Parts: sequence; C-alpha cells; structure tokens
Amino acid sequence: MRRRSFLKGTGIVTVAVVGGGVWRAWDQGVFSVGEGPAYEPWKGWRNTGNDAPLALVRAAILAASPHNTQPWLFKITDSAIGLYIDTQRNVGALDPYLREEHIGMGCALENLMLAAPANGYAATAELLPGKLGPIPAAPKPQLLARVNLAPGKREENELYNAIPRRHTNRGPYDPSKTIPPDFVAALKHLPGDDADLKLFLFTDEADRKKIAEISSAANTEIYSDPDVQRGSERWVRLKWSAVQKYRDGLTIDASGLPPIATAIAKMMSARMLRWAASRSTDNGYANLMLGAPLIGFIAVRDRYAQEQCLQAGRIWQRAHLFATAHGLSARPCNEAVEMVDHERALGRPASRAALLNEVTTDSTWQPTFVFYMGYPKLSAHASPRRPVQAVLV
Ligand SMILES: Cc1cc2nc3c(=O)[nH]c(=O)nc-3n(C[C@H](O)[C@H](O)[C@H](O)COP(=O)(O)O)c2cc1C
Repeated sequence: MRRRSFLKGTGIVTVAVVGGGVWRAWDQGVFSVGEGPAYEPWKGWRNTGNDAPLALVRAAILAASPHNTQPWLFKITDSAIGLYIDTQRNVGALDPYLREEHIGMGCALENLMLAAPANGYAATAELLPGKLGPIPAAPKPQLLARVNLAPGKREENELYNAIPRRHTNRGPYDPSKTIPPDFVAALKHLPGDDADLKLFLFTDEADRKKIAEISSAANTEIYSDPDVQRGSERWVRLKWSAVQKYRDGLTIDASGLPPIATAIAKMMSARMLRWAASRSTDNGYANLMLGAPLIGFIAVRDRYAQEQCLQAGRIWQRAHLFATAHGLSARPCNEAVEMVDHERALGRPASRAALLNEVTTDSTWQPTFVFYMGYPKLSAHASPRRPVQAVLV
C-alpha cells in the first residue's frame, strides 16, 4: 500500500459499508483524535519545571522524521547532549542509505537547538563527518552530533513557539491563495551563508507542473517495488491500538482526509482500505502538489555526506516552522529523490538525478528533499510520538 495514497481516492467513501457501528468507532479512536498516550508529548513538552536539559529533548522529539520512524536517541550529560541514530528504525528499501533518516535526525537537532535558548542555554552543535553507506546489518546506535551547552540568555522566538503547531499537512491546498513575495524571499535566505546548502523555490506554474510530473511518476515506480512496499508498510498504523502502543508511524488521522472520510477510513478493515487505495489515481498526487503555490528543493553538494544530511534536516524543520508561524502549511514529497537512491542501490542509470538537474539547471547542487507549501483547506492533525524516556541512552 502506498504511503501517499493508502487512504486516498473515491473508493473510501463509496465503500463505507461499515459494520460494527459505535463500538468499532470507539475502538478505532474515531472520537479520540489527538488523544491518548501517543499524543501526550505534544502537550507536556513545555511544562518543564527545572528539568532542563531534558526539556530540550522534549522539543526535539516533536520534529519531523521519515514515515514518523523517530530514529533518534539522546544521551544527556551536564554540559552536552549526544544525538545518536538508531539504525533499526528504518524504512528499508525506500531509504537504502538511511539518507532520509539522517535528514530526520537533522530535524530533531533543529528543534533541540531552538529549545536551548528558550531554556536558558547557549548551545553549539558539532556535526560529525561521515559518508552514508548501506543499512548496517547489525544495527547499533551511532553518534551523529554533539550539542554543547553553556548558560545563556533565556529567549524564545517564533520558530520555537511554532513547534507544537507544526504538522505535515497532506490535505488539499487552496490554489487561489498566493504566498506573499516577502515570505518567499525570507524562506530562500534560511540557509544563511552555509556553502553546502541551497534552497531552490519554484512558484512558476510550468516548473511546478514539471516537478509534479516527475514526483508522480517516481511515486508510481518506487511503490511498485515489493521491497519498498514492505519497508513502508512496517510503519503504517491502521489500528488505533497500534497507534497507542507503538506511538510512531503513519496514521489515518494524519493522512489529510476530510473529517467524515477520516472517520469512515478508521472504521474500515485493512482489506477494504487496500482496495480503496488501489482505486486512487496517480493524477491525484500531481494535482494535490499543484494545489500548493510553491514547490521547493533543499539541495546539498553531496547527498551522501552525513553532515550535509543533518544540515538539510535542520533547514527543513526550520522552513516548516517558519511556514507554520506565518499561517502556511507544508508537506514533503520526496519520491523523486527516493528514486535517486533506489536507482543507485540497484545499479541502474541515474535517470532521476538527471531529471532533477534539468529542473535546477545546476548540476553542482544535488536536491535531497522536495516539499510543497501553501494555504491549506483543512487543518492537519498531530502524529504520535514515543515518550522521552524511550529515547534516552
Ligand atoms: C526526510 C523526510 C522525508 C519525508 N518524506 C515525506 C513524503 O515524501 N511524503 C509525506 O507525506 N511526508 C513525508 N515526510 C513527513 C513525515 O512523514 C512526517 O514528518 C512524520 O510522519 C511525522 O509527522 P509530523 O511531521 O506531522 O510531525 C518526510 C519527513 C522527513 C523528515
């Protein structure tokens, strides 16, 4: 079942011959969106009392991660926090070099760095260099970054305050609402003077159409691979009991459906959902992307350089928080770059990298993250999170 479309399509409503009634609705959390232990980390993250530096980790775990795998572990000492990647928490053949998991680690690092001054710390981040390779056969936590902490001026900014409101929005966007040019200009400058990182932003319709076509074709191709399907399905949580037990992964509530369709989908069996998903159209994905007036690439000099992945993640988290603070929504749409990894892993010609280079017209930059942004028609729900106690080493 595909990540993007596992709930989409007209099939969902037309097969709403739901049995089981109210009990099933209750059991599947239809009346409990955003409730229960899986959603607690979104609520108590700021009420810290005097338990910093743990408060920084509480902010970090609210970050984005691929398929909500939450690949992070943290080691706290008096003067530093170590960020480790837990390589077991991977999406398999969809991310064969853990490139996206490393980007997710960068997202967590960004939240942590924003929470540092808010909790009275001056923080500096040391990123460890390295080159990404295949998923380790015998996984063990690997240190990627160290955040050194010293006493500092206590201050909060708009990005920090946006942390609990940032959610990936997979619903439709309003194509008639354009994004103010000063927002686009500020977004473009987020990477500052980082020589290894650049944001390419596209608002022109012809550019966006081309990217949507590339992404849609990549979506179809990558999810036709059974290995990719297996890696992805491991993180799809259809049962409410699984959402509350594992507190990770992709949920129906976060899939961007309207409220009634969400309720119906939650009451359907996995078999019915699969059938509904099989009726979704690939055009649907391209059209969804084109509803947003802005598509962006985060590009680096070397897609497989560990520290550049972390920097890319920091910028994605920052960009999404910046959008949230200004009333916009966003969604990553990474199939084209996932196909770059896929072709590399299978030893095939780099056709997707070439297509992306055609869009940027500058092959010295390697797109590593694709997203769209705009004004949503529906608000997005939070996704589950494991508690801090589960991510400390
Ligand atoms: C590296 C990376 C790649 C992602 N790719 C996609 C994607 O292609 N499509 C999508 O809908 N979400 C994508 N996401 C969003 C995650 O699924 C999302 O962050 C996660 O489910 C947690 O939800 P939240 O962002 O609402 O907190 C990606 C996130 C990261 C960090």
